[in-house]
Amino acid sequence: MSQPPLPASRQTKLLSPDANGIAEAAALLRAGGLVALPTETVYGLAADATSGSAVAGIYAAKERPSFNPLISHLPDLASARRQGLFDANALALAQVFWPGPLTLVVPASPGCTVSELARAGLPSVALRVPAHPVAHALLEAVGRPVAAPSANRSGRISATSAAHALADLEGRIDAVLDAGPTEVGVESTIVACLDGAPRLLRPGGVPREAIEGVIGRPLVLAGEAGHAPLSPGLLASHYAPAARMRLDAEAPHDGEAWLGFGPGQDYPASLNLSLAGDLREAASNLFGHMRKLDALGHGTIAVARIPEQGLGEAINDRLRRAAAPR
Ligand code: TXA
Ligand code: MG
Repeated sequence: MSQPPLPASRQTKLLSPDANGIAEAAALLRAGGLVALPTETVYGLAADATSGSAVAGIYAAKERPSFNPLISHLPDLASARRQGLFDANALALAQVFWPGPLTLVVPASPGCTVSELARAGLPSVALRVPAHPVAHALLEAVGRPVAAPSANRSGRISATSAAHALADLEGRIDAVLDAGPTEVGVESTIVACLDGAPRLLRPGGVPREAIEGVIGRPLVLAGEAGHAPLSPGLLASHYAPAARMRLDAEAPHDGEAWLGFGPGQDYPASLNLSLAGDLREAASNLFGHMRKLDALGHGTIAVARIPEQGLGEAINDRLRRAAAPR
């Protein structure tokens, strides 16, 4: 398997966690840049969650092979409630543990502004209000949800200091906001509140017992007998349109919709992931384009071949899941 090419090299600034550093980090994020930010759990590799192309940059910088949904960070419960629908359990957990190392997966609200790519096309959204004062100030200044997985290259240990983040990501991101080592050191606990009984998706900074104390019953483990696994990576159907998908196609057959990539692919019932053949642009368009083509009601969506390199590997992974027999 070939090595994905590195994202274009850029100068990574080291910012101090004062008013100037935070303002500069916020401006970079609002402009679509990538900034490693401190939270109380781990350093996060942050991007504007509302921008598909900014979010695609996270995957490129991390060399993350697949589009897992990302956690969106907010400064407070009020802003989180604009993005997601909180049932009684979610509200109680948020009131007790926010700000803090708890992530809640809730149904996305009708007005949710988190991009399809950050949500991996799911109808839910993962929300977190971190306790770190620098993260809080930055989120206030950005004024939009901020997507942030751990600030390390894929497959490596999570970054708990600016030095860790730099070691993995220097030259790939715009800045690191250095506020010293993180306090909690493990990622947030993830609890899904989607359909009644809350489920534990990932153990983390808030212990299970503390959560059970608030909801007044045992947390159902995601994937336990009788419960469908919630980890989207395991669920091909989450990416599967109603139409069949025909991959690595040269051109559409009669009656097929066409999902193109690169120039010179002007067919009826078609959308192009990136005319310029830019994988980052293609990644940010993928779920939205699939959805739009599916809505046209053609039996099959034929898809151009996407290079199996860089973000192409992730795009192809999702396309294969969508094309897998159901
Ligand atoms: O402590 C943390 O949570 C760190 C810091 C930076 O805040 N962030 C972090 O984010 O670990 P991230 O994006 O790597 O976490 C992604 C996890 C994955 O396990 C993913 O499957 C789950 O969150 N997740 C996100 N959205 C989900 C959703 N809608 N449904 C189910 N799981 C979801
Ligand atoms: Mg991680």
